[in-house]
Amino acid sequence: MKHLICKNLNTSICFNYKEIGITYCTLTNATNGLGWPKISGEVFNGRTIDWDKFFQERAKEIDLIKQSTPRRECANCQQIEEDEFIDDKKIHYVLLSPWQVCNSDCIYCLGHAQPISPKAKNYNEYYQEFIEPYNMLEIIKDMINHNVLDKDAEIDFAGGEPTLYPKFDEILNFFIENDFKNIIIHTNNIQYSKIIEKGIKNNAVSLMISIDAGTKKCHKAVKRVDSFDKVWNNFKKYSKARPKEYNRRLCTKYVIVPGVNDSKKELEEFIKQSKKNGATQVALNVYNQLLNNMNYEENLLKHLVDLSNFMIEQAKKNNIPYTLFPNISYVYEKLNIRIP
Ligand SMILES: C[S@@+](CC[C@H](N)C(=O)[O-])C[C@H]1O[C@@H](n2cnc3c(N)ncnc32)[C@H](O)[C@@H]1O
Ligand code: SF4
Ligand code: SF4
Repeated sequence: MKHLICKNLNTSICFNYKEIGITYCTLTNATNGLGWPKISGEVFNGRTIDWDKFFQERAKEIDLIKQSTPRRECANCQQIEEDEFIDDKKIHYVLLSPWQVCNSDCIYCLGHAQPISPKAKNYNEYYQEFIEPYNMLEIIKDMINHNVLDKDAEIDFAGGEPTLYPKFDEILNFFIENDFKNIIIHTNNIQYSKIIEKGIKNNAVSLMISIDAGTKKCHKAVKRVDSFDKVWNNFKKYSKARPKEYNRRLCTKYVIVPGVNDSKKELEEFIKQSKKNGATQVALNVYNQLLNNMNYEENLLKHLVDLSNFMIEQAKKNNIPYTLFPNISYVYEKLNIRIP
């Protein structure tokens, strides 16, 4: 039977950095900008999670949504829909976002901090501010021992820049060695990782790479670091590592920032570079703050649809699969235009 549900709440766990901690929800509610508070001290004692209590607490929240009396954080959330759901007391989606440090400085990104030199006097204190205060790998192992992590679960690394996270290699390797085949890594691709390469060779790892430009000049304007050549060279190496049976995704992504990279020339070059370097998919998005702040100004919406239509046309022309993020689909919806 169908009723109101949130698939994200019903299936996920999110490991976040210091103040946010571990949460059920991995998203922000776009209608009120609220994220979820950390799971209660009853459930997580700072070291281990009591899984029975975890699912009991989750079931209560699922019920609140079902009864149309969701908690404040979930009110009017875009993720609530009518569908069927049977709680199998399992986790199907793990978001690993345990730190904020990044070697890029994207103009649109609010959630990052710049790295400092390991020789800096306040190095340890600095990093404590941006890193998770618990042992994530031990909790993951415990999840597996208690049989609460679905074998086909999606394991999603984000951040900050995950490839710089000190335990990245160890944790990614753990998932690969334990035969998880649905691992996705969000990265700016500046730092090459032998373990990512291993995951690609094992047909276990997909990449979602934030490129955001077609030319070197524009890439620098968005990322605010000089990394265009490095990013594409690394991409070529990953692409070469693909086995014949590779059926994961090497996806390049473009977040439109009006006034910075919102031109057809950039999108055209982005698709060309993606094709040339072996991407198996391209993705388009528009930065979140824009939709929050613009009050849906019609000319801007039309401009975004025009750019999106152009990207789709170029992707088709270059015979490369494409995907649109919900922000972009939302723009079409606002203008009552069908996505081509
Ligand atoms: C926070 S980043 C972390 C992973 C990695 N550093 C990267 O750039 O892919 C995760 C994803 O969120 C996207 N992102 C960050 N800020 C955004 C924003 N304001 N609007 C839309 N997407 C954003 C990035 O492009 C990236 O794909
Ligand atoms: S309804 Fe929205 S805010 Fe609430 S758990 Fe689901 S995604 Fe998160
Ligand atoms: S690379 Fe990722 S984390 Fe870093 S600034 Fe850009 S979007 Fe943010």
